[in-house]
Amino acid sequence: MKKTMSEKQTKSDKTKPSHRYKSAILGCGPRAAFHIQAYEGLDEIHLSAACDQRRERLDDYGKKYKIPHLYENLEAMLEKERPDILHIVTPPAIREEPMELAARFGVKGIIVEKPIALNPVQAGKIKSLVGRSGMKIAVNMQRRYFKTCLGLKKILDEGKIGDIQWIRCVTKGNILSMGPHMVDLMLFFMNNVRPIRVWAAANGMNGYDYGHPAPANMLVQYVFPGQKVVYFEDAEDAVGTPGETDFWQHGELDFWGTKGRAWWAQNRDWGYHGEGMKNAHVEKSSWEGSDVPGQREFTRAMAHWLDDDGKKHHNCLDNALQGFETILATLQAALTGKRVEFPCVPPDDIIKQLEAKLGGQVV
Ligand SMILES: NC(=O)c1ccc[n+]([C@@H]2O[C@H](COP(=O)([O-])OP(=O)(O)OC[C@H]3O[C@@H](n4cnc5c(N)ncnc54)[C@H](O)[C@@H]3O)[C@@H](O)[C@H]2O)c1
Repeated sequence: MKKTMSEKQTKSDKTKPSHRYKSAILGCGPRAAFHIQAYEGLDEIHLSAACDQRRERLDDYGKKYKIPHLYENLEAMLEKERPDILHIVTPPAIREEPMELAARFGVKGIIVEKPIALNPVQAGKIKSLVGRSGMKIAVNMQRRYFKTCLGLKKILDEGKIGDIQWIRCVTKGNILSMGPHMVDLMLFFMNNVRPIRVWAAANGMNGYDYGHPAPANMLVQYVFPGQKVVYFEDAEDAVGTPGETDFWQHGELDFWGTKGRAWWAQNRDWGYHGEGMKNAHVEKSSWEGSDVPGQREFTRAMAHWLDDDGKKHHNCLDNALQGFETILATLQAALTGKRVEFPCVPPDDIIKQLEAKLGGQVV
């Protein structure tokens, strides 16, 4: 039987990448390597250019990853390349300016690293830019696309451990470096519901050396609707994930439900033990095996969102801002020493006020 045209097209679509979208990357620092590696096997988007003001980093990435066009200046890259998607992989103080520039050159989608901002002013500017430009922004908290996290989410959604009563969430990097990932995961597993209130204590400041100044040690309690409670520890001296030796690999959530318990540890395993199960179900979880594949699905999801407004990215700006507002309320609780109800409007200079309270700049 003769094949119809549409059948032929389907076959060739499968074998030939379509590369519907063209992208470019700003920043060739250590994190950018993972964004670039995620392009292997990504048929929807073609990475055409990279930009870094540090020539040696730019040349190094250009050579290593065979990126065809290299620029030291963002405006020059946008003007020449006219990408559909721009990755912004810069320190968090550099967010709204490249986004403004991208909007001027018709960029449709931005993939920007976490944290989305360092203070309420920056976040407000980004929100207003999206309102004016209609650009789609996804904030790079790629764990929502890890197989391990999606596996656990399914288990929780199916009620395998009953109703969640409380969660322990722990990491070591501060609340503006590793914190955004863990807050994001907490909200993901809580189905993007906003907490009702937060109480927090903090001591010391760190993160200046790599541009993420925030309290060094925080202990936090979030209360969600239904009196579900999260104990959140984001502290250099946290117990973290027992047995983990890499500072940045401490990332763990433990869930206690009415019918069992579940857990996810970034670099060890995840699983659950529900009522009536003889043994726990356990699967391996490793950073190396998760990050690039998760980043790939995260990046692919931007193409799908550009194709169809209905396919909203899991890390769309609205979800990321909800996480950022959760962090700001947490900082406000630590600053005032009082329980804070959501929504909360913290002062623009909250980090400066925390510095003054917690003993100033400690690197
Ligand atoms: N999602 C994750 O798992 C993850 C992991 C690590 C870091 N990060 C985040 O990634 C971001 C970047 O981290 P990094 O360690 O790669 O940073 P980095 O500072 O080492 O690298 C950033 C690069 O951007 C370049 N740059 C900055 N502004 C520029 C401009 N206007 N024009 C041209 N080049 C410019 C710098 O020269 C630098 O080479 C941070 O926000 C960090 O929190 C995320």
